[in-house]
Amino acid sequence: MSELMSQSLFIRAANGEKTERPPVWLMRQAGRILPQYRALRQKFPDFKAFVKTPAAAAEATIQPVDELKVDAAIIFSDILVIPEAMGLDYEMIEAKGPRFPKTIQNQEDINILRSGTEAAANLEYVYQALRLTKQELNGRVPLIGFAGAPWTILAYMVEGGGSKTFSKARKMLYAEPLQAHALLQKITDTTIAYLKQQVAAGADLIQLFDSWAGELAPAHYQTFAIPYLQQICDALPEVPKTIFAKGAWFSLEALGQTSCQVIGLDWNTSPMFAREKMGGSKVLQGNLDPCTLYADAHTIRQETLKMIQDFDGKHIVNLGHGVYPDTPLDGVKAFVDTVRSYES
Ligand code: CP3
Repeated sequence: MSELMSQSLFIRAANGEKTERPPVWLMRQAGRILPQYRALRQKFPDFKAFVKTPAAAAEATIQPVDELKVDAAIIFSDILVIPEAMGLDYEMIEAKGPRFPKTIQNQEDINILRSGTEAAANLEYVYQALRLTKQELNGRVPLIGFAGAPWTILAYMVEGGGSKTFSKARKMLYAEPLQAHALLQKITDTTIAYLKQQVAAGADLIQLFDSWAGELAPAHYQTFAIPYLQQICDALPEVPKTIFAKGAWFSLEALGQTSCQVIGLDWNTSPMFAREKMGGSKVLQGNLDPCTLYADAHTIRQETLKMIQDFDGKHIVNLGHGVYPDTPLDGVKAFVDTVRSYES
């Protein structure tokens, strides 16, 4: 990492240094909240074509930096590029979400998947988007790379899309645990190769999104999630790592023992509770309820300030999950501006 980036507010905070104010960014900051994103999106008939066009992906990545003045950019892509690179194709259905025409149902389905560097070689368009973004950012803010956590990717590959219960994916953990481990290992090997290439292409920090962590029983999170997250963190010593495990308040102790630097919290978990479970070693990221941003500017400001005080340092400001696409831009700006003008 360049000297410039290691001295940036965001990277200093991620490394646990005391900073003049906490840095701020939003999960899903590139997207439909921005009019300039909606205009760019119109040029692409489907989302996947957009993701696979590096110049467009770089533009979408930089839009929130220009418009909102956030302290980090996150590469415009999706967590589902990994299953696709492994050989399991998906469609993004407008206003509904992802759907996999074929799903993973048995050992044979797992055997034929590509993995590791062979699979990661199919994601050259992401590396190119990172290089282009890096160039165009020209050192303004650090660039976050990301991937889905292995359990969340398994859930999509087995369910074929989102789900109310994730019962097919959870069933696999009970009925075919060896298959589950085989699939998780293939996803992990691919994710490691992918993230190493992201770092080589310029990512300054890596975030792992475990969006469906909260669906698992604590013992299952320990067996089927933590060891794979740990492998990924251990494989990327060059950059700070963030784990955002949504709904996994019950696993904070275990997450606190992984080798990541930052733990993302959702809005159901107070920073006081997280500190009680994990101690003070990790930096915490989060965790305003995204719906706060529908309130008036005064309320947003009060809630944001209260949150910063509750975290009491070692904090990267964010929402407790991705910003909702219909959030008023003024609400997002009230949030970011409150943090940017914060004086401790
Ligand atoms: O600023 C950013 O964070 C943009 C990059 C980004 C996207 N998806 C772009 C996107 C990131 C980091 C993601 C992560 C992602 N994708 C997650 C993990 C985070 C989370 O929200 O828990 C998950 C579960 C997905 C899977 C996914 N992608 C779903 C369920 C959907 C449909 C729902 C939706 O938001 O429309 C997507 C589509 C998607 N990914 C869009 C964007 C901007 C919307 C596509 C559009 O423009 O129509």
